[in-house]
Amino acid sequence: MGCAIIGCGKSLPALAVANDDLTQLVDTSDEWITTRTGIKPRRIAVGETNVDMAEAAARQAMGLVEGGYCEAPIDPESIDLVVYSTCTPDVLVPSCAALVRRRLGLVNAVAFDVNAACSGFIYAMSVAESMMASSALGVAGAGRRNKVRRALVIGSERLTRITNWKDRTTCVLFGDGAGAAVLGAGKKGNPLALSFSTSPDVAALDVPGLAGTSPFAGTGRPASRLSMDGRRVFRFAVAAICDAVEGLAAKAGIAVADIDHLVLHQANERILAAAVKRLGIDDARVARTLRDTGNISSACIPLALDRLARAGELEDGDLVALVGFGAGLDIGACLLRWK
Ligand code: ACO
Repeated sequence: MGCAIIGCGKSLPALAVANDDLTQLVDTSDEWITTRTGIKPRRIAVGETNVDMAEAAARQAMGLVEGGYCEAPIDPESIDLVVYSTCTPDVLVPSCAALVRRRLGLVNAVAFDVNAACSGFIYAMSVAESMMASSALGVAGAGRRNKVRRALVIGSERLTRITNWKDRTTCVLFGDGAGAAVLGAGKKGNPLALSFSTSPDVAALDVPGLAGTSPFAGTGRPASRLSMDGRRVFRFAVAAICDAVEGLAAKAGIAVADIDHLVLHQANERILAAAVKRLGIDDARVARTLRDTGNISSACIPLALDRLARAGELEDGDLVALVGFGAGLDIGACLLRWK
């Protein structure tokens, strides 16, 4: 059995913050941000929670409301699994996936979160796809409960909660938002190839955790704020994207030039441009959402997919390569045929 993306949706918070607005906070300029990153406005969640955005994106992906891509509305009871990628959950327990399940009435779905930062959506999709494949083989046993025929996969982030608003080298890069996709039955052998790899470097991009919050463990670090070595991430990202795309093409027995759509994690326009140039791929085939949203970590890939699908740019049979990369530093990639 194989799987296909049968619905896509997205949600962005209402507040748009322009580059000029950030000059009130740090010593920066629209010109610097635009030329070094390609980002114009980003959206910042003020009233919206992570789960609010995920719920709205999921409703679109399931065709329960207008605004997404979905050929026919998807019955909430037909969803067997929710995998929710986030590194900025509203709460740790219950999982954000369980909260979305309750809000959408997905009464038959098992639900859990994954955190692999910006590559998280690819890992979430891959977990969903392998649970669908193993349940088709009957690995988990027979019966309704052990069948995963449809999965809701979400990438949702409130990165601006962990942004260091005093650090001009990072605060200009990030935004908030959510994207979602529904996986259903598809052609045998889809996805055509997967690629997972790492270049272990936890210091390149770091958000200090909760260590030390117990009264027995000292004072610890009170606030969790993101820090990053931008140049290190840049070098890693360009090389990792190229390796992943070439690896996917080799595994699937196609040429890189055969890929119809390249959907890369949207970290920085210069990373996209450098990777595209090195791969020699036609720039028009590269999805771009970064300019209007900034980097939204694991929401970037489903958001870009939703935009392509709604614009009618994804035709049946098209080859789509998805590449996520981020904190860890880890990379996940997937080549699939659209339908
Ligand atoms: N406004 C104005 N000046 C700035 C700003 C800013 N927002 N940020 C940095 N500068 C200054 C620096 O202080 C430095 O000044 P100096 O020369 O006087 O010391 C100068 O600009 C150059 O700084 P660099 O860090 O060398 O700038 P660079 O050209 O490398 O661009 C950037 C920085 C955009 C972060 C780049 O390294 C990059 O794109 N890295 C990739 C990281 C990334 O995109 N991460 C996203 C999150 S990770 C992920 O999603 C996987």
